[in-house]
Amino acid sequence: MEDIANQNQLQQVILVAQGFYARKDRAHDLEHALRVREWGKLLAEELGADATVIELAALLHDIGRSGAVEKTHAESSAGLSVNILQKAGYSNDLIMRVRDAIVAHSLEAGHEPNTLEAKILYDADKLDFVGAIGLVRLFTLGGVQGWPLVGDNSCETFYQEKIRGYQKHIYTNAAKVYFEPLFLFMEEFWQQLHAERLKLVHSG
Ligand SMILES: [Fe+2]
Ligand SMILES: [Fe+2]
Repeated sequence: MEDIANQNQLQQVILVAQGFYARKDRAHDLEHALRVREWGKLLAEELGADATVIELAALLHDIGRSGAVEKTHAESSAGLSVNILQKAGYSNDLIMRVRDAIVAHSLEAGHEPNTLEAKILYDADKLDFVGAIGLVRLFTLGGVQGWPLVGDNSCETFYQEKIRGYQKHIYTNAAKVYFEPLFLFMEEFWQQLHAERLKLVHSG
């Protein structure tokens, strides 16, 4: 019976989250949140962390991207999540742990993840920005922002400045094992892209 009650609570959270993610930014949509949740559950199991905290934090971590009211989207997401989880009937202790993880999933707010659950959420989020999925998200974001492929303020500079930087900033060793081959795939992609561009220049 308790399991069914928990599932209902979780479904309620997913439904509310879906409403927040129903916007044009397909790089940060419900699908992204659901993939972060799967990475998070995997890492939680490997590292013996609280899977419920991570699952809820993953589902809600980017909801504040639509019309951020706080300084950063992480802080907005955290604030909105507290209300959503209170309405769904979660305990205060759990809500605070989810909030702390969400606030620290982006370093732009100046909060470092300092619990295992916060570190896992941070890592799970970055794992969704590498590999083939990472490339699709990068170019989706580039399309929304109107970035060119290469050059100043481009998809490539976002890749170099942001995504490459994650490599040094993955917190758990368990996540590093998954991150590395996906990151190398992206590096190879950019090499291939430049090789193609060079060929065009030489044949032109
Ligand atoms: Fe985020
Ligand atoms: Fe995210």
